[in-house]
Amino acid sequence: MHKQIYLDYAATTYVREEVIDAMVPYMKEIYGNPSSIHSFGQKAKQAMADAREQIADVLRAKPKEIYFTSGGTESDNWAIRGLASANAKKGKHIITSSIEHPAIMNACKQLAKQGYSVTYLDVDEFGTVDLKQLEGALTDETILVSIMYANNEIGTIEPIKEIGRIVKENSPAVFHVDAVQAVAAVNIDLSELSDVDAMSFSAHKFYGPKGVGGLFVRMGTRIDPLLFGGSQERKKRATTENVTGIVGAAKALTLAAAEREQEQKRVIELRDHLIKRVLGEFDNVRLNGHPTQRLPNNANFSFDFIEGEGLLLRMDQKGVAASTGSACSTASLEPSHVLLAIGLPHETAHGSYRITIGADTTKEDIDYTVDSLQAVVTTLRNLSPLYNPNKKG
Ligand SMILES: Cc1ncc(COP(=O)(O)O)c(C=O)c1O
Repeated sequence: MHKQIYLDYAATTYVREEVIDAMVPYMKEIYGNPSSIHSFGQKAKQAMADAREQIADVLRAKPKEIYFTSGGTESDNWAIRGLASANAKKGKHIITSSIEHPAIMNACKQLAKQGYSVTYLDVDEFGTVDLKQLEGALTDETILVSIMYANNEIGTIEPIKEIGRIVKENSPAVFHVDAVQAVAAVNIDLSELSDVDAMSFSAHKFYGPKGVGGLFVRMGTRIDPLLFGGSQERKKRATTENVTGIVGAAKALTLAAAEREQEQKRVIELRDHLIKRVLGEFDNVRLNGHPTQRLPNNANFSFDFIEGEGLLLRMDQKGVAASTGSACSTASLEPSHVLLAIGLPHETAHGSYRITIGADTTKEDIDYTVDSLQAVVTTLRNLSPLYNPNKKG
């Protein structure tokens, strides 16, 4: 059997060796509770302060604007619920897009049950949010707009700066950005993105540990807590802090930022080689997402006349681990809401295959993957009563 090839880095990454090394002392020796005033606690507290500073430095924010959480889902839930309730006196209207992660979608659905009204903006065929529709939807009652930096399924990068400007020019709303897929992969400068009031990130997307992430909340932005209890995280998020994870998250982000330029170039070359081969060698295939404004490591294809699940499992047997849609929705047989939102018919949406490249990916891996796809797609299409090889699309 061929070696195992992991091409699902958008679902999660492994933890880098240097990150593990940085974390270990905080499990074995510096295990104090940061709220304790003895030396064990104070060392842990100092490590957390250093981590906050390192993360703020990479994102060009202030350390006080970084709050640690248990990951992307909590950050997104907190942003939606906490920003909405802190601003509820001004209005009850929220705007988001139709391609957000379930961590945003389901938090908004919950608020809709509690009397908020939610507008879900359309996206175009490439997954870019409709800016005209956004402008038209904003009112004096709009208190929160939440749009993702980059989509986890199709990789499209949204025009965040432009969206922020439109939000601020047309409403009193605060602007939250789910940047879980973008932080580390692209250079985000929050000093320049001055209209962004809050932003979510998660360490397991950038070679840090799972179960830790953060929410940037710009100074002066009011947000209610999600967790009530002790006075951790400046009384905004109770529970004893995950010091080990926080140290790991900061180390991972610092390393990613230092290597970004070089790594981005390498990954883009691999992605473009992959896209060129697939679009050139297969019939009845399309690339989902924006042709240029997309994450460096993302390629999402739809192969007509096949089921993504079948493709995924047969590719897995050949040693290639990728995804159909997003890892969160693979348990469901419904086609991805993102692929439907960009206008794909149900059948095409069902045949989607997401490949996300990472630090260990080589050109040989990509070539082996495309060669394997050739064999698997041919087999599956030969099983399909709908496929006619003489009718190329
Ligand atoms: C865009 C986006 N938001 C939020 C999340 C949730 O992050 P976490 O797994 O850290 O809860 C993910 C994870 O896939 C994501 O891709």
